[in-house]
Amino acid sequence: MTKPQILSFETYDEWDTEPMNKLFDVHPLPASGSPNDMPKELRDQITAFAFRGHSALGPSLIDAFPNLGLIANYGVGYDTIDVAYADSKGIKVTNTPDVLTNDVADLAVGMLIAMSRDIVGASTWVRDGKWASTGSFPIQRTLSGANVGIVGMGRIGRAIANRLQPFDMHIHYYSRTQKDTPNWAYYDDLVALANDVDILMIAVSGGPDTINIISRDVLQVLGSDGLVINSARGTTLDEEALIDLLQKHQLRGAALDVFDSEPNIDPRLLTLDNVLLQPHHSSGTIETRKQMGELQRKNLIAFHADEPLVTPVN
Ligand code: 8YV
Repeated sequence: MTKPQILSFETYDEWDTEPMNKLFDVHPLPASGSPNDMPKELRDQITAFAFRGHSALGPSLIDAFPNLGLIANYGVGYDTIDVAYADSKGIKVTNTPDVLTNDVADLAVGMLIAMSRDIVGASTWVRDGKWASTGSFPIQRTLSGANVGIVGMGRIGRAIANRLQPFDMHIHYYSRTQKDTPNWAYYDDLVALANDVDILMIAVSGGPDTINIISRDVLQVLGSDGLVINSARGTTLDEEALIDLLQKHQLRGAALDVFDSEPNIDPRLLTLDNVLLQPHHSSGTIETRKQMGELQRKNLIAFHADEPLVTPVN
């Protein structure tokens, strides 16, 4: 029996490539990124994309594959995919929710603790011999009992809040709608939220609705005692304002897993000692990545078997 022909974006781990190659004829997107560098007969046979959502996927790519029926994203966020356009062409989109929630929340909390106590700076202090040559490392700030503002109370925001509660932290959150969480204070205004907290943790979806919602105003109100932790998307935060305020020490610090232009991040960030930088790695564990790959394949299998998609977006 002939296997379905799928187009794969970026590289996958071998535990994904093996089953993927068994199930499908997998063709990589040409290194040029241009579908025109693939033979037309092959493009016509492609029925699905195994997408890894790091670059824009819009009309020009979609239109190059006339028999495309599914874009199966490896990742929960699908802000780089033009879902409205896909929808208008009758193309389905799926993502990989839930399986990565714990890892993303774990790293967000890890970044918060690391920032709050400057764990990385203290380690460097020891490694550089400064403990012996200069003396004690500068004392830091208490995290337990702090007021934290979580931006976005979806699966990931909730998982972060659940982890912070045992630290006796006061949970405040911003969301489109109020949730049934009476112990957590709801805000429909981000400036008001920033005014009441010392820590902002961004866990909102990317996309047009959330571009720069963490604006200069929000960051200024957060103030010189404020920490920002971004595990969402670079687009949610005014990075220019963030850098400016960090340079002037009008913010205490920022921990960033995501950036405006990844992986070529703004070089000014590398010069700041009040930032913690991660390479967009919140879901980067073997356990979670295996589950993400499995879920992506389940959607690809369901689509080609004409069965209901497991985690549809549209
Ligand atoms: C990345 C993510 O997609 O799930 C998401 O939305 O941002 C991540 O899991 C990851 O780099 C996988 O490629």
